[in-house]
This record gives sequence, C-alpha cells and structure tokens, in this order.
Amino acid sequence: MANSPSVHPDPALSQTDHTRRAYDRHARLYDAMEWPVEQLVYRRWRRSLWQDVEGPDVLEVGVGTGKNVPYYPAEVCVTGVDLSEGMLAQARRSLQRHPAAAAVLHLMDAEHLTFPDDAFDEAVATFVFCSVPDPVAGLREALRVTKPGGRLRLLEHQRADVESLGRVMDRLDGPLHRLTGVHVARRTVENVRDAGWRLDHVERLAPFGVFRRIDAHNPLTAN
Ligand SMILES: C[S@@+](CC[C@H](N)C(=O)[O-])C[C@H]1O[C@@H](n2cnc3c(N)ncnc32)[C@H](O)[C@@H]1O
Repeated sequence: MANSPSVHPDPALSQTDHTRRAYDRHARLYDAMEWPVEQLVYRRWRRSLWQDVEGPDVLEVGVGTGKNVPYYPAEVCVTGVDLSEGMLAQARRSLQRHPAAAAVLHLMDAEHLTFPDDAFDEAVATFVFCSVPDPVAGLREALRVTKPGGRLRLLEHQRADVESLGRVMDRLDGPLHRLTGVHVARRTVENVRDAGWRLDHVERLAPFGVFRRIDAHNPLTAN
C-alpha cells in the first residue's frame, strides 16, 4: 500500500537511514537533476506559495538544497530542517548566495522535531512528504509546533486520483523508493487531514492531481 512502510535494500537500515543516505548520495547533483522541472513549473509554484507566507516565524520542513531560499519574503524568519547533512550543505550555499534571506538551518528529523509546542506561525514544505518515512507522524509534528490557527502550506506530488494511473504508481512506488528515497504514490491530502490539520484549499496543479498545492490550518484556537 502506498502509505505503508516499503521494503528497503538493506534490512539493517531503518527507513529514516535509507532516506537520509539516498539524499546524501544525490545532494551534489540534486539541483542539476531537477533543473528542467524547476524551470518548467516548480519555480512558478514556489513563488506563488511564498507570496502567501506571512510568518513572521516560519518552519520549513525538508529544506533540501535551499531551492525556496530565493523566494523567502523579506519580513519572515525561516527555520529550516532536513534529515540530510549533504542537502543542508547545499542549502547553506544557497543562503550565502541570497544574503537577504533570514534563515537558520538544523539537521533534524521531521518526525521528531525538537522545537517546543506552538513555536511557529506557519509551516511550509515543498515536495517533502513524499520522502518522510512516516508522513502522518511528520505532519503531526508540524502541527504540534505551529500555533493555534497557524497555517500549513505544501507543494506535493502524490498518487493520481485516476484509479488506473494510481495503481501503476502503486507498483512503481517500492522500486522508486529503493532507488531515490521518494514515494510516488503517497495520499498526501488524506495524510494532512489524518495528522489533524483542517484543510482550507487543495489545488490541482497538474493533470490527474499528481501535483497539488495544499493549504491547511491548525484547528485549535488560542486560549
Ligand atoms: C524531494 S526533496 C525536496 C527538497 C526541497 N524542499 C525542495 O523543494 O527542493 C525532499 C527533502 O526532504 C528531506 N527529508 C526526507 N525525510 C525527512 C525527514 N524525516 N525529516 C527531515 N527532512 C526529511 C530530504 O532529506 C530532502 O532534502
């Protein structure tokens, strides 16, 4: 099943270690590999998402190589976390190239954030919950550290909502995960809801719903 832990190549490795190693391995080439899709669509979607971010304190989960850094609004302070030291090293370079961006980076597992409850006004992640080994646990942690009423803004690829294509993606999910650390058949909209977020808006960005922008909020109200 798309959301169940899949088999990974070395049974001695946890899912988390497998994901970390996959991204450490690809970190230097990651931006080059993503360049075509970045130019075609991602950069437009990133710009549009970050235009809506108000913060001021924003958690970016899975900051990766720092591809969102150029789009951080001037008035927000971003705390970025990632599992992979290799990816974070690239993100630090991106921050050097964009000195106006205010961000601090931490090596941290999204499923076990060390921040206190209600630490952030908003949480953002782009193309991350396809990789987090237990996405609902990661989304629940993001909810815990986001203030009551605080926003979640995601860009994600996920399982197609056309059943025939969805089933093909289910079959590809295991092999592609072993190779890249990515799950292609996650049901991320459902995962966001299952983690306790209240969905505000889901926008289909590509045919069959394989790319989506997901906006949600923390349904708790401040005391
Ligand atoms: C596909 S990349 C996307 C990176 C970046 N957000 C972007 O838009 O280019 C997924 C990122 O999520 C990170 N990641 C995966 N599982 C994670 C976890 N449990 N905790 C923190 N980061 C994680 C990976 O290390 C990787 O940098």
